[in-house]
Amino acid sequence: MFTKRFAAKLLSKKKEGLYRKPVNITKRRGKYIYINNCKVINFASNDYLGLGVDKKISEKISQNFLKYKNSSSSSRLVSGNYSIITETEKEYAKHFGFCDSLFFPSGYQANLALFSGLFSSQDSLFFDKHVHASCVKGMVLCNADCFGYNHNSISHLEKRLINNSSEYRAVVTESLFSMDGDFIKKEDFLSLKAKYGFLSVIDAAHSLGAIGNKGCDEIDKIADVGVGTFGKAFGFFGAFLLLPAKFKEYLFNFASPLIYSTTLPEAHAASVMDILQVISKADEKREKLKNISIRMKKRLKHFGFKVKGDAHIISIIIGNPAKALKISQNLIKKGYFVLSVRYPTVPLNKAILRIGMTALHTKEDVDGFINALSDFR
Ligand SMILES: Cc1ncc(COP(=O)(O)O)c(C=O)c1O
Repeated sequence: MFTKRFAAKLLSKKKEGLYRKPVNITKRRGKYIYINNCKVINFASNDYLGLGVDKKISEKISQNFLKYKNSSSSSRLVSGNYSIITETEKEYAKHFGFCDSLFFPSGYQANLALFSGLFSSQDSLFFDKHVHASCVKGMVLCNADCFGYNHNSISHLEKRLINNSSEYRAVVTESLFSMDGDFIKKEDFLSLKAKYGFLSVIDAAHSLGAIGNKGCDEIDKIADVGVGTFGKAFGFFGAFLLLPAKFKEYLFNFASPLIYSTTLPEAHAASVMDILQVISKADEKREKLKNISIRMKKRLKHFGFKVKGDAHIISIIIGNPAKALKISQNLIKKGYFVLSVRYPTVPLNKAILRIGMTALHTKEDVDGFINALSDFR
């Protein structure tokens, strides 16, 4: 019975060009991956600084696992609250300019915990319509009144705020949007925050580590609560919330995804401490990332592609989802991997090719990619 229903739904996904199937990666070497043994340059990665394939970091992580062993074996509220985790959280808070921080096994889980734990039916949440799926799922769980505003539109957000008199208001947005690749308009956002006094929740998964002095993206200036992930510029896995001490205490008492889930092991904390040292001193890598991203965007525009993106996430607008998928599949044959992003990740018939630039990419990679892409215009 179930199988028949699932088969029918999968078939309609295929007909709409929206069917998803992960590619099979057989090997990874720096910026190269092998898809079914075919060597391609990876333009679909979030390893913005290349730390995910850094040999020295791999060695440190291995040593940490040898020293601290494999697993924490329980939730922090049971017997997994190791001092090294708490101390490392303090270091992250200090680095990014917050009172405290809180680690999670993934960004998805962090957002579920954050929204379902902090907010309730007394609250009004205003969210950019392009925030990540994990924020949306978290908001659904919290029973607050939720109001979407048009992507990166400060004027629309203000309209929403004017019409709402709730005592408890929070605005949810991203600092660098994961698919559109644009930055939040910081100054305008701050003016609005000063005028309306809302709590700001900023998912900075794609900017922390990669943007600004020491990778901080000035997150402390705009966020009351910040979300960072270790799986992108930090080249590892897991996530961290940056938050006031009282909020952390509150989450330990009210956030089900934190209370009822095995925590990351001590070796993870030791490793993210090592990674933070690297991130602090990675200005050269960040500069390289910035410059190669500028080149990619300029060259794409020069060759007549419609592109968006203010930094290392660049999206090429395609529209038709089946076409985006076909281009992405054909590019693999030419030695390049780029993701076709389709509904529901982006609105229907607004499919894009999402390019994730990294500090490992060279001018030759960019030129070769554009050359290959030109065949599919
Ligand atoms: C903006 C944003 N927030 C949260 C997440 C979830 O992070 P994780 O992959 O660690 O679950 C992602 C993942 O891509 C993301 O893009």
